[in-house]
Amino acid sequence: MSIPDSEQVLRLDEDFTSDPYRVYDDLRVGPPRRAVFPRGTRGWLLTRYADVRAALADPTLSKDVAGAAPLLEKHRDADAPEGGFAPELAAHMLNTDPPDHTRLRKLVNRAFTVRGVESMRPRVEEITAGLLDAMAAGPADVDLLSAFAFPLPMTVICEVLGVPDHDRDEFRKWTGVLVSSSKPEDLQTAGPWMVQYLVSLIAEKRSHPGPDLLTALIEASEDDDRLSENELVAMAFLLLVAGHETTVNLVGNGLLALLRDPDQLAALRADPSLLPAAVEEFLRYDGPVNIASFRYTTQPVTFGDTTIPEGEFLFLALGAANRDPDRFPDPDRLDLTRPTSGHMAFGHGIHYCVGAPLARMEAEVALRGLLERFPDIALGDGELRYRNSPIIRGLEEFPIRLR
Ligand code: HEM
Repeated sequence: MSIPDSEQVLRLDEDFTSDPYRVYDDLRVGPPRRAVFPRGTRGWLLTRYADVRAALADPTLSKDVAGAAPLLEKHRDADAPEGGFAPELAAHMLNTDPPDHTRLRKLVNRAFTVRGVESMRPRVEEITAGLLDAMAAGPADVDLLSAFAFPLPMTVICEVLGVPDHDRDEFRKWTGVLVSSSKPEDLQTAGPWMVQYLVSLIAEKRSHPGPDLLTALIEASEDDDRLSENELVAMAFLLLVAGHETTVNLVGNGLLALLRDPDQLAALRADPSLLPAAVEEFLRYDGPVNIASFRYTTQPVTFGDTTIPEGEFLFLALGAANRDPDRFPDPDRLDLTRPTSGHMAFGHGIHYCVGAPLARMEAEVALRGLLERFPDIALGDGELRYRNSPIIRGLEEFPIRLR
């Protein structure tokens, strides 16, 4: 067993985010690699399917935010700027271990079951049709993300939670900063804005309850004390952000993969019943979450010949695992008919994505609508640039030509 101290630390910077798959091919054949996030946190990057899956299922790995705080300090790069995330936004289920995790997750699980989500389908179709109408009436060259792929899941999750639509543009701006920016001054503005926004939204809901999830969560916090005020703010934040920052890129990355592969696009047009399988392949091939959120070791953990000591962060590269040739033959080929079961685009284990049924349904409705309404849809002009985030895999803008 050895810890390869001498290996160079991999910076998960712009160079990496522009094409992580190229880097992963080299990493998968070696031991876990020391890596550093843009905000300066050091940890170990796992890239093999078997290792990533084992780590996601390992109950000795923790996500507890209180335990993470001293480690974030300890593993901060010497030249990394100080200042981080607003602590009020961090007390959510993705940052907790059982039993808190179990309690928090139970409060929202029911809203997002396959059956719960099916009841939302007509409304999702209606929102989609409205966006498609607006695009059909507008210019032929558009940014797919701002015209369609972002407003759809954003409208849906805001309606589920009961968020009024007039704040959405500003909300998007600040979530974008919180998710992607590595500048501390950005975070120091965005964090307090978000906390303030959510606290007043909750106050507004308290005085004007509605038939929505936020009202239900407020009632749970008041009636039987299952949710503290701070947990409520963090839960609203997690659902709102997770509900749109990811799905936008399932639609974007999925359409991009199709437009770059005319044979697969033709196959899907010829047989639209392939769509649910196609969505799973888009998730595997170029899923919206490239590296899962941090977890850390609470005791030594061994992957292959490498033992990672207690108190270290692990970065689990879902995007690398989903292209591991030991699990998915010919992994860099888009193949809408391949078996995709076991892909980890939604994670695995107790933190497996709560919103997976909703995301799948939204992506299906969105992609079906786009392909039906715009039979000649094609790539537009302009270079494609990826967002500078090792976690989110998605384009800054996606220029397309509708007709
Ligand atoms: C967790 C991916 C859409 C809510 C996760 C995780 C992944 C993921 C990988 C696990 C992260 C980890 O273990 O570190 C995705 C993708 C989506 C998507 C690829 C779209 C294509 C959604 C939507 C919602 C949502 C629409 C809204 C309801 C959540 C929540 C968690 C989560 C609440 C935390 C679950 C827990 O800690 O138990 N998601 N997600 N996600 N997702 Fe999603």
